[in-house]
Formats: sequence, structure tokens, C-alpha cells
Amino acid sequence: MPCYIELKNISQSFQTNDTKVTLFEDLNLTMSRGKSYAITGPSGAGKSSLLMLISGLEQATSGIGSYVNGEQKQSLSELRSDIGFIFQQFHLLPELTALNNVALPLKLRGDKTALAKAKHWLEKVGLQHRLDHKPSELSGGEQQRVAIARALVFEPKFIFADEPTGNLDQNSANEIADILFTCCQENNAGLVVVTHSEALAERAQHRFSLAEGQLCLQENKLLKVASC
Ligand SMILES: Nc1ncnc2c1ncn2[C@@H]1O[C@H](COP(=O)(O)OP(=O)(O)OP(=O)(O)O)[C@@H](O)[C@H]1O
Ligand SMILES: [Mg+2]
Repeated sequence: MPCYIELKNISQSFQTNDTKVTLFEDLNLTMSRGKSYAITGPSGAGKSSLLMLISGLEQATSGIGSYVNGEQKQSLSELRSDIGFIFQQFHLLPELTALNNVALPLKLRGDKTALAKAKHWLEKVGLQHRLDHKPSELSGGEQQRVAIARALVFEPKFIFADEPTGNLDQNSANEIADILFTCCQENNAGLVVVTHSEALAERAQHRFSLAEGQLCLQENKLLKVASC
């Protein structure tokens, strides 16, 4: 069954006061479930903005975004219930324990097995000994693991991660990358990672660079520009 995201002739610009900032024009992109993608590029190039468009959380100024799921071709806004999003700053709720932070998205959907599933995913990311800790009682790497468990707990078809290792030392960053790529592979989820880290980008099956409004597909390792 085909399951993919398709962006056609996507442009994004912002109007602030009397200046118009154009991030990119006429971008085309297809990303499939079960595959991993990295997007790199200089600061301010528009990577986070592009991720918001791919994930259907924001709308492009022009162009068509579609979510193809089996026989159905839907608008990208329909993707929302099938995605998990991981932010650089974790965005955990400070007053909730790790267990309740992960269980919350399931509880909001009325899932009676929310706590059991949350515990399972916290074990998968190696935090079985931290279930009752609040975010302020956890290290940055541990908080990011909670955020990953929260994104994966309802087994979404696509996971989007914006600089998931940006705040971590190299060892923690490698561990987080292992968890992210392994869990997505096990769940057959599509993974789209925005990162400044070469090491993280190299782990993805497909790699794009975004600079000066151009999205280029690069062959990993060789970094050969395939289409620009
Ligand atoms: N809602 C908005 N209104 C106006 N300008 C915006 C808005 N969102 C983003 N921008 C501008 O778009 C540009 C790209 O921002 P974006 O956050 O996507 O960059 P980035 O590639 O993710 O950078 P970084 O690597 O620093 O995270 C920036 O110059 C930013 O100021
Ligand atoms: Mg960004």
C-alpha cells in the first residue's frame, strides 16, 4: 500500500511590515513511509519552516501538498493524526512525570491502555528507571528520550524531528540517533530529520540540502549533487 507525502510547486514567503521574505519557490518533494530523510543547510535557510509544511502543521503560500495513504489522496492537513513531532527544546510539560508526558497524547484520544503503552515506550528508550521523574529532574538527553517516546507512543506513520540532538553532547547525540532510527525502522515509520549534524544526516537513506531557496538531493557519503 503506497503511503507518502508529496509537495508540488511549494513556495513559502512571509510578509513582515513592508518587506517580503521569500524562503523558497516551486519546491518539489516526495517522502515515503518506511524511509529516512535528512534536511541540512545553513541557519535561516528555512529548514524548520519546510518541516512544518511537510508535516502539514503549516500551510504553504502556494503549491499543493498531498498525503497519499493507500487508495486515498488527501490534503496534507489530514496527515496530522498520523505524525509524531520532536522539537529541539523538547516541549515537555513541566508539571507531569515522564510517564504522564508520554501517556498524555493517548489519554487525549481516550486510550484506556495509555499508561501501559507509555511505560513500554519509555522502556524502549531506556528510561524504565525514570518513569516518575519530572522534566526538571532529567538531563537534556533523558528529556529528549521522553520526547521521542511521546512522539512514537501512538505508532505514527511519519516522525518529524527538528534538531533532535542539537542540545546534546556527542555520546548522548549518538544514543538518541540510534533510538530514533531503530524505532522508526521497527515501526516502519517515515523519518524526516532537520539537522546541522553531519553524523546524524549521514545516517539517513536520503539527504537534502536547503540553501538560498534551492533544495538539492545529495547522495549520502559521496555528497554528490544528484539534482539541483
Ligand atoms: N512566521 C514567520 N514570519 C516571518 N518570518 C519568518 C516566520 N517563520 C520563519 N521566518 C523567517 O524565515 C527564515 C527561515 O527560518 P527557519 O526557522 O525556517 O530557518 P532554519 O533553516 O530552520 O534555521 P536554523 O538552522 O537557525 O534553525 C528566517 O529568516 C525567519 O526569520
Ligand atoms: Mg530551524
